[in-house]
Amino acid sequence: MIRIRAAKRGDTKAIGRIQVETWRDAYAGLLPDKVLLRMSAEIEGGRWVRVIERRESVVVAEDSKAGVIGFGSGGPSRVRQLPYNGEVYTLYVAPGYQGKGIGRRLLRALFVELELAGHKSALIWVLKANQSRFFYEAMGGRHVADRDERLWGTVVTEAAYGWDDLAVPCSRR
Ligand SMILES: CC(C)(COP(=O)(O)OP(=O)(O)OC[C@H]1O[C@@H](n2cnc3c(N)ncnc32)[C@H](O)[C@@H]1OP(=O)(O)O)[C@@H](O)C(=O)NCCC(=O)NCCS
Repeated sequence: MIRIRAAKRGDTKAIGRIQVETWRDAYAGLLPDKVLLRMSAEIEGGRWVRVIERRESVVVAEDSKAGVIGFGSGGPSRVRQLPYNGEVYTLYVAPGYQGKGIGRRLLRALFVELELAGHKSALIWVLKANQSRFFYEAMGGRHVADRDERLWGTVVTEAAYGWDDLAVPCSRR
């Protein structure tokens, strides 16, 4: 059984591990190898301790046997030029658990958190070359912008997917 709940400090080790696993799996060939190779679950986990302490919205998917197998986070939009006030910052499901509806449940939970925090709309930035962006289309997100970002010396194109009204139930969401 899998349940979605707010993240606790004790989840950060698992969150760090999933972040490293999913980055290496999803971003191989898209981000520099040396960045992916030198990632450490411990260092990433330490960063998430600070995120949770800042009381950002962080949710996890917990399997009754395997423990935490996915997570997501969100808060105010970091981009003022687009008419979206909430943002999903991260959403990752561990490789062995993808394609089972967990990403959808995590995204819905983040939308609820964003609405509770007073955000009416939301967007997410995703690497354009990452096939996972089609997940956001399947979730009713609209491709609203592209931008070029310099990450670790490489220029990558990111696509923004937006949801205009978090209160409107979307049939595919
Ligand atoms: C992207 C991700 C969060 C999606 O979570 P998931 O649990 O695998 O997705 P779900 O099983 O909830 O899928 C829900 C729907 O999206 C669709 N979908 C999921 N991934 C898809 C993809 N890559 N392309 C097209 N459709 C996709 C599913 O088919 C399903 O559609 P349906 O409702 O018609 O059946 C997850 O696969 C992941 O963590 N990927 C690697 C890391 C990553 O790139 N994260 C995004 C960073 S912004």
